[in-house]
Amino acid sequence: MLNVEEQKFVETADAVIVGGGVVGLSLARKLALSSFGRIVLLERGQLGAEASHAAGGMLAAQAECDRPDPFLELACASRELYPALSLALLEETGINIELDQTGTLYLSFTEEDERETTHRYNWQSGAGLPVERLTGDEARRLEPCVSERAASALRFPLDWQVENRRLVAALATSAAKLGVHLLMGREVEAILIERGRVEGVQTARGKVFAPVVIVAGGAWASQLMAEVESAPAVRVEPVRGQMLCFDSRPSLARHVIYSPRGYLVPRLDGRLLAGSTTERAGFDKRVTAAGIHNILSNALEISPALANLPLVDAWSGLRPKVVDDLPLLGASAQTRGLFYAVGHYRNGILLAPVTAELVAEEVMTGAARPLMKPFTIERFLQAGVR
Ligand code: GLY
Repeated sequence: MLNVEEQKFVETADAVIVGGGVVGLSLARKLALSSFGRIVLLERGQLGAEASHAAGGMLAAQAECDRPDPFLELACASRELYPALSLALLEETGINIELDQTGTLYLSFTEEDERETTHRYNWQSGAGLPVERLTGDEARRLEPCVSERAASALRFPLDWQVENRRLVAALATSAAKLGVHLLMGREVEAILIERGRVEGVQTARGKVFAPVVIVAGGAWASQLMAEVESAPAVRVEPVRGQMLCFDSRPSLARHVIYSPRGYLVPRLDGRLLAGSTTERAGFDKRVTAAGIHNILSNALEISPALANLPLVDAWSGLRPKVVDDLPLLGASAQTRGLFYAVGHYRNGILLAPVTAELVAEEVMTGAARPLMKPFTIERFLQAGVR
C-alpha cells in the first residue's frame, strides 16, 4: 500500500525532520501545506514501519486519559482534527484512512473496575465530555460479543479509530505530492550545532544543512537528544507493546472495546486486533509467550467468543516514553532552530495531527500556543529535573 518512491539525497533544506512515523510525516505535510520551503524527512528504516505500523489506531482520548488536565485537552483537540484530516487525505491521495466513528465501550468486571469506571464517568461528565453509562445488558445489546460477566460499561461516542497503516500511507503520499523529500534508510547520527544554533544533521551518507531540525524519531530519538540536551530527564525510552490479530469475519464487534486491562479493535476488513502489553525490553521487538498469554486472557475476559477465531498475526511495537509519560513538543531551550515532537507514548496516532499543527506553528512563527505550553521542555527545566 505504501507506494512512495525513494528520492535523491539533498544537501540543503529549509527544514529537516528526523523520523518518518506518523508524527514526522504529519509535520512534513503540515509544513509543506504552509509552503515552508524545501523539507527533507530522514527515516532510518522504512516510513511508518515502527510504532505507527504496530499501533491499534484508537483515538481514545477518554479511554486513555485518567483526569481532566492539559493532556486531556491536547488529546481531545487532536481527536477533533481527525474528521477534516480524513477528508483532506482522501482528496489529496485517494487513500481512505478508515476513520470509524462508532465509538468505544469501556467494560467493568470487578468491584475495583466499577470504582474506576464510576470515577471516570464522574470526572468526564463533570468536564462536559460525552460519556454514557450502560448496564452490562445494554452493553451486550450494542455488542453481543461482550462477556456475560461484564457488569457495566461506559460508552465514549467520540473515541473513534483509524486504520493507522493507511494513515501512514496517506500522509507519506500527501507529503511526497507536496514536494517533501522523503529519504529512507538514512539514519541521523548527530545534530550539527554551531554556537547555540542548529546547522543541520549528519547522516552516514553525508550532511544535510538546514536552519530548522525537528526530532520526531519516536523511541530512537534518545541518543540524538542525549548529545544536545544537558538535562538527563529529557530522554525517550522504548516501552514494548505486543499485539495479536484475529480473523473475525463476520465481524465480532463494531465498537473498540476496552477493559481496564486490555482492548479489542475491530477493523473494517475483518481483522480484530487485541492489545497490549506494557514492557521494558529495550529495543527487543519479539513477541513472547508471556505477552500472548497476557493479551489473550484479557481479550477473552472482554469476549469469550474470541476463543473460536483464528489467530492470524502477532507483532510488537516500541512506544516512545518520556519520564513523565507526556509528549515533548516544541523548541529546545538550548539550541535555536531545534525542535522536538517526541514522547507520544501510548497515543502517537491520536496526537499526530495536533502535534503537527502546534510544532509547525512554532517553527513558522516562533510562538508556542497555550495548548502546547505544558508539553515543552520548560517543564523539566523549571522543575529542576536534571
Ligand atoms: N494506546 C494503546 C496502547 O498503547 O496500547
